[in-house]
Amino acid sequence: MDWNDEIAKYDKFMQDEILNSGKIPRHIAIIMDGNGRWAVERNLSRTAGHREGIESVRDIVKASSQLGIKYLTLYAFSIENWKRPITEVRVLMTLLEHFLKVELDELHQNNVRVKAIGKLNSLPKSVQKLLRKAIEFTADNTGLTLTLALSYSGRWDILRAVQIIAFDVKRGKVSPEDLTSEKFASYLQTKDLPEPDLLIRTSGEMRLSNFLLWELAYSEIFVTKKYWPEFRRQDLYEAISDYIKRERRFGKTSAQVASEEKESINDSYIQKVINAFKSK
Ligand code: FPP
Repeated sequence: MDWNDEIAKYDKFMQDEILNSGKIPRHIAIIMDGNGRWAVERNLSRTAGHREGIESVRDIVKASSQLGIKYLTLYAFSIENWKRPITEVRVLMTLLEHFLKVELDELHQNNVRVKAIGKLNSLPKSVQKLLRKAIEFTADNTGLTLTLALSYSGRWDILRAVQIIAFDVKRGKVSPEDLTSEKFASYLQTKDLPEPDLLIRTSGEMRLSNFLLWELAYSEIFVTKKYWPEFRRQDLYEAISDYIKRERRFGKTSAQVASEEKESINDSYIQKVINAFKSK
């Protein structure tokens, strides 16, 4: 099914509004929280919450792809989540397996490239196999890059990077004085992803929970009280619309940002004029 054939009227309006702003985030990262509370408040099992959470994953992936967002990173399972009751961990792994099996063809048809970050070798072998298949099968796709953070933690990735750097220093491959932010980031598992522009967290908690600690340094944060199973595309549009209104200063002053924006508008105008001359 081609997702672009099924954009509803309301969606088209909202998506056009976002696209016309010209400020669409390139990379959105999401901490999907509140599956358990959503279920408990409805007298349902936590499993039911996770299952409904997958419906949200489907809708958000689809809407992100329709909007032309280039990168979506979902925090699906943290290293700390291994401490949950074994029955819940099993359910989450089974749901993940099911998702990868059932959704792969549709993701591929819609040009989605699947990636994963985290300590993947601690996942069950069956999940690892399906993940590898999904990653290889969609490797050449050029639409949305969907990164699943699985058995992931930000500190784990930073520590892992430091260990590899230490080895590289020891064997003379890199020298300590060459270590810049960019060089350091190239050792992280997220090396091929741009830093997130927007971090969304559901269920109202004001925490990073060990997610993308290095990468989120300058990301805009949007927290909603909604639990993940109730977070659907309208909520995504709301988060992006809020993001569009923000001024991203990256440590600079408002006046500096405004003058840079003006310069870049001028530059693009001059470029347009040059191109128009060239094409004559
Ligand atoms: C947090 O809710 C959610 C998780 C730990 C798991 C998220 C997983 C899914 C949405 C399903 C699998 C994902 C994919 C990508 C197929 P919680 O259980 O911590 O909720 P609580 O804080 O209310 O207990």
